[in-house]
Amino acid sequence: MMDQQTVETIKRLMEWEAGRSAPPEGFPSLPDMPAGRYTSQEYYDLEQQYIWKKSWLFAAHLDEVPEPGSFMQWDNAGQPLIIVHGMDGVVRAFYNTCRHRGAPVVTVQRGRSPRLMCGYHNWTYKTDGELVGVPESQDFGPAFDKSCRSLIGVRCEMYGKLIFVNLDENAIGLREWMGPLWDEWEEFAFDRMRLASRQSFDLKCNWKVAMEANMEVYHVPFIHAQTVAPLVDHKRNVNTIFPGGHARMIAPPPKNTNRAHVRAIDNPPEWQSVETVGELGRTTTQSYTMFPNWVSPLSNFFIPPLIFWPTSLNTTRLELITMALDWGDGPTPDLWTVPDGKGGREMSPIIQEDTQFGEAIQKSMESDGFKSVPLSYQEARIYSFHQTCDKMIGLDRVPPHLAVKQVIGKDWVWPNDPRVALMEREAEPA
Ligand code: FES
Ligand SMILES: [Fe+2]
Repeated sequence: MMDQQTVETIKRLMEWEAGRSAPPEGFPSLPDMPAGRYTSQEYYDLEQQYIWKKSWLFAAHLDEVPEPGSFMQWDNAGQPLIIVHGMDGVVRAFYNTCRHRGAPVVTVQRGRSPRLMCGYHNWTYKTDGELVGVPESQDFGPAFDKSCRSLIGVRCEMYGKLIFVNLDENAIGLREWMGPLWDEWEEFAFDRMRLASRQSFDLKCNWKVAMEANMEVYHVPFIHAQTVAPLVDHKRNVNTIFPGGHARMIAPPPKNTNRAHVRAIDNPPEWQSVETVGELGRTTTQSYTMFPNWVSPLSNFFIPPLIFWPTSLNTTRLELITMALDWGDGPTPDLWTVPDGKGGREMSPIIQEDTQFGEAIQKSMESDGFKSVPLSYQEARIYSFHQTCDKMIGLDRVPPHLAVKQVIGKDWVWPNDPRVALMEREAEPA
């Protein structure tokens, strides 16, 4: 929960941000980011090894493996995994790799079974991964020890009903990874929200190009003039940089906003409202980046994350997800996709606005005409995210021509916020 003093400070900061005529005093000027971060195979390979294999990644909602014995395949992290709701009630993740000769243990996308059996030679595993059945096991000889041949597990932890995995067995826990988000998100009822919709779309650009369209409000008045702009006053936006590459933005609606438009987009009356959500979650656009690939506004109606998965250096799979409280017999909530007229779904107008330039940006970034990226104070969440990418990789591993300088120091990272002192100073009578 966000305490009342924090709420009041953020509300005052909104007006203070709108009144600025320059970046806050002492905020570092952000050096250009090298183009190669979006276009070089070398940087992509470093991301694969040191970011994607070491980060906590959203894998599934408990509704996708709802009962003991439920399982699903999941390979968005580039490795074939299975998520298994154990007969003992514990949700686990394993490589979908039989310990005999590597056949997939699970071949259907989803299913339910008290045992997992590889179809090649019928080796059989319990839902906790233990190998319990080997046909003709006497032929493996007396030294063969089934207890050493359990499915290989992957770190798996939950936040409410959300299932996260981490390919690094030595990773810190999910709670430590999330830092302040762990408590701050409590009001949004991650433990009660159901999965309403999960769709994915392939984009022709680097995953960071796609994701960064959702990490600043600078673009809102321009590409979202008719859609988001009436809801989000970009001038009164308050960014907060959290440790670990996470970040928050809170932007109120414009003071002269068209209330009917806001209601039409933001207050779908047939959906249940989460009663624990506080003032800012109800009245502003409160949105979070969770490193490395989650961006989600959070409100009293939805948890609707956008998740970005690299499928190659210049292609991305975008997942558009809506979670909401039980919607009963009403229409299934889906904030980000609409019927495509052919029996499927397509990206909603807002998401089409955000993704429209991706392919062309990627092409232009790969051209000789693109050198580097200058970022404004308003885009500092993107810069901080890049600093964390390099830190995850290891500052000594990133070639200098691809690195960003680590200019945003701890003094500008939560819980520190020099803006508050600047605001207080200005508020003092002269
Ligand atoms: S590969 Fe799975 S039982 Fe042989
Ligand atoms: Fe946008």
